[in-house]
Amino acid sequence: MKKISKVLIVLMALVMFTACGSSKGSNSTVKIGVAIYKYDDNFMTVYRNKLAELFKAKNTDTVTYELTFQDGKGDQAEQTNQIQAFITQGVDLIIANLVDPTASPVIINAAKSADIPVVFINREPPEADLNIWAGKTTYVGADARQSGTFQGEIIADLPNHGDVMIVGDPANVDAQYRTEYSIKALTDKGYKVNKLLEQRGDWDQTKGQEIAAAALAQFGNKVEVIFSNNDGMALGALQAINSSGRTVGKDIYLVGVDALDEVVTLVNSGKMTGTVLNDAAGQAAKAIEVAQQLLDGKDVESHYIVDYVKVVKQ
Ligand code: GAL
Repeated sequence: MKKISKVLIVLMALVMFTACGSSKGSNSTVKIGVAIYKYDDNFMTVYRNKLAELFKAKNTDTVTYELTFQDGKGDQAEQTNQIQAFITQGVDLIIANLVDPTASPVIINAAKSADIPVVFINREPPEADLNIWAGKTTYVGADARQSGTFQGEIIADLPNHGDVMIVGDPANVDAQYRTEYSIKALTDKGYKVNKLLEQRGDWDQTKGQEIAAAALAQFGNKVEVIFSNNDGMALGALQAINSSGRTVGKDIYLVGVDALDEVVTLVNSGKMTGTVLNDAAGQAAKAIEVAQQLLDGKDVESHYIVDYVKVVKQ
């Protein structure tokens, strides 16, 4: 049986966003409130910009999509107020990237009483909550188990293996699943994985750097692979790896998730081992397609899932 000597798991935390929308009402204006859990998040910034770009492209001579974005700043109470304001302003539809997905019943009940459909993105509300107003509330996202599996497979497919550090976030299903399934992909292939450390970094580059630096200082050469639950934290880990005198691809491996442009460039130049495309464009396009069905008065499914894609050096 192949084995990996040690595994270091660092669990980094998650973050959230809020965006909102509101606007004026002319017959030709569709008002959409977009609540983003936190603007200060690399991936959700890409996603937010995609939503704005793709909605703009839908404008015609007769219909204008008027978006109002709000930054929840990682504070659910503030985001709930922002969404309540959308409702008061009479938006036609809400797109919600909740700070705390367990707050969804409050949001759904308020939206339902005002007959405003809700498309949840990125952070998945519990299925039971979507059932509060089935047909008019939905989740558009990705299956984080797939991204974790792809991370593990990227490492398993390499000729040499070592210790693994996982960077994730226990409070977020993406982090939980990426952590669990990246390891599972290795153990499914017969590798023995030894976790050295788990620590949350809230999807944040600075925290990723700090966690990886501390782990490298504590465990030294025992750390042979770092799994980061996202690219933001992986970029921080890369800074720590470089500062410690280690070299990715030579004596340590590093994988993330999201496929930020900057990280794809690093992967293609061999400075990062791999990442997994978290398809912001595909998810935004699907969210808009489903939003349009709701705006047209149709009922929609409870879940729409967009695939991840493995990214390794071309
Ligand atoms: C994940 C993404 C992270 C972060 C998080 C926010 O899907 O990989 O980078 O944006 O969502 O909820």
